[in-house]
Amino acid sequence: MYFIELNNGVEIPQLGMGMAAIGSWQQDDEYVSEVILKAISLGYRHFDTASVYGNERALGRALKESGLPREELFITSKVWDTEQGNTKTHDAFARSLERLQLEYLDLYLVHWPVPAYTRETWEAMEALYQQKKVRALGLSNFRKSDIEQLATFAEVRPVCNQIELHPYFTQQPLVDYCQFHKIAISCWAPLGSGSAWSAVSEHEKPLVDPVILEIAKDHDVGPGQIILKWNIQQHRIVIPKSESLENMRNNFLLSNFNLSHSEINSINELNCNKRLGGDPDYANQTHVMVKVPD
Ligand SMILES: NC(=O)c1ccc[n+]([C@@H]2O[C@H](COP(=O)([O-])OP(=O)(O)OC[C@H]3O[C@@H](n4cnc5c(N)ncnc54)[C@H](OP(=O)(O)O)[C@@H]3O)[C@@H](O)[C@H]2O)c1
Repeated sequence: MYFIELNNGVEIPQLGMGMAAIGSWQQDDEYVSEVILKAISLGYRHFDTASVYGNERALGRALKESGLPREELFITSKVWDTEQGNTKTHDAFARSLERLQLEYLDLYLVHWPVPAYTRETWEAMEALYQQKKVRALGLSNFRKSDIEQLATFAEVRPVCNQIELHPYFTQQPLVDYCQFHKIAISCWAPLGSGSAWSAVSEHEKPLVDPVILEIAKDHDVGPGQIILKWNIQQHRIVIPKSESLENMRNNFLLSNFNLSHSEINSINELNCNKRLGGDPDYANQTHVMVKVPD
């Protein structure tokens, strides 16, 4: 397993299991727990959920059932737009912990920037961090301007920014800005497949791009493994979602090959600024209508 050290010294496994829409959006049942237990049996220890994914209870049940020591796990959750603000963030965090049956989180993220609430939300998160209820605080979908706003008052530096990132949308200026400020990049929809939020058709996916397929053929691995390794070798965190045993297993098998500089560059060159998911410039307008289940 590959790890990177976050700016507060906490280590995070570079590969995690994305948890949005396992089964279907906000499905929170035995099926979801079984998928997680399958992932655990393959070696996954890092799980990326969010209150709005509506499957924290299924994750909590699976973690309990696995019997794994808590310190072997890395669990991330996120505060949704409608949960932001000081008291609301404290409440949202407490509800996430209760649903997950955990005493603490490894990482808590602001799911999307809502600039009017960022200060209150972050200060609440800082209090949770000081109380040792969470080991690291981070951001998601933050633009450069949002990070600059945060920097004017934050006492705890965010450890990461989780953003949409795949070969067709590399967001290089934002990545460079974050990495310069020691904010690690975590890639959502790393395969550019978007299970929950996008109607992207099969032939539009980076997984079938001729450049990726050619590199995959040369290394005798699948295209998904090439895309994930392209991120891992560039010190980024990846959280592919998979519920098929074959994809889950392949996504975990990344250590028996390495990409050359020229292969990495040729994948970088596939960027066409093609955003598949929500845009932080507008997303909040629709997010306020999305309910976080109890
Ligand atoms: N912070 C945010 O705002 C935000 C937004 C969106 C997503 N996320 C996070 O990012 C995670 C991943 O995003 P995503 O699910 O939208 O996109 P993704 O991981 O790029 O794509 C998932 C899709 O790819 C398939 N797949 C997985 N491994 C594969 C492989 N090796 N070869 C071919 N297909 C493969 C999966 O199918 P099977 O299930 O059949 O294997 C699934 O349909 C989410 O679960 C969530 O944790 C965060």
